[in-house]
Amino acid sequence: LVDEAIEEINLAKNSTTLNNIRVKYLGKKGLVTSLMKKLKELPQEERPKFGALVNDAKNTIQAKINDKFQEISALEKMQKYEKLAVDISLPGARKDIGHLHILSQVQKELEDIFISMGFEVVEGPEVEDTWHNFDALNTPDWHPARDVQDSFYFTEEKLLRTHTSPVQVRTMLKRKPPLAIVSPGRVYRRDYDSTHLPMFTQMEVLYIDQNVTIKHLKFTLEEMAKRIFGENSKVRLRPSFFPFTEPSYEIDVWFGDTWLEILGAGMVDPNVFKNVGYDPTKWSGFAFGLGLERVAMVKYGIKDIRDFIRNDIKFLENY
Ligand code: PHE
Repeated sequence: LVDEAIEEINLAKNSTTLNNIRVKYLGKKGLVTSLMKKLKELPQEERPKFGALVNDAKNTIQAKINDKFQEISALEKMQKYEKLAVDISLPGARKDIGHLHILSQVQKELEDIFISMGFEVVEGPEVEDTWHNFDALNTPDWHPARDVQDSFYFTEEKLLRTHTSPVQVRTMLKRKPPLAIVSPGRVYRRDYDSTHLPMFTQMEVLYIDQNVTIKHLKFTLEEMAKRIFGENSKVRLRPSFFPFTEPSYEIDVWFGDTWLEILGAGMVDPNVFKNVGYDPTKWSGFAFGLGLERVAMVKYGIKDIRDFIRNDIKFLENY
């Protein structure tokens, strides 16, 4: 009987089976217990011997069960913890959080560059009047930019600003020189193809002080180019025309292997100073304006300007 019990105990794989075995042998109606009960039926002289035998059997089985129980419960504990265990070496699941649009990033980068040079960021309205957008900026009545073919008009006198230069006008009217400001913002023109959008983003820079020369302009442009396009970039000035600057320049930036035309610049025209009540014999200044989309396209090799407004998540995630 003991051998049989031991064999069963050895085979037991979990605590439930083991408990069943215990009940089978040592329970109230168990095999060992019923042997005990037979004791009374035996003749007096055989009882002690038999009793000792059954007791031995009981103790042996109980001890064996106890050992096995220890073993099994340790194992079951292990299995339970293995199931609950967390592999702390696995990489965490990343939450996809949004980020600034590439244009906002470029705008911020440029703002930071100019702020570090002592400029202040100023903003103004996108709905302008023709005086701030054209007249104050010395733009003659016959200028093509004034044409309804080129600009978005609400009325004869109200339009969507075609550049952020009117912000400079508003600031000059409000303050006295010297002045060092940058004005980023959306501007509107009737244009649409792979390099033009009817709504795009400009940043204009204006610096006014006494004895400002083209050298100051060139230095500022070079500093800006180096900081956004890299140490090796160079800047080239080509004669051009804008109503509000004299002389005026197209600015090319050397970028790796080609010259790219990315901005317009010049020395503030004395007529602009007169229009805002600054003395042109006392004050001088430079101004330049750049398209942020153009800067981002050059910097990141983006081919189609329309990508900026397509909201294609695959495109946006790249930057
Ligand atoms: N306002 C001009 C434009 O929109 C850019 C410019 C700014 C040119 C300042 C010269 C000086 O094209």
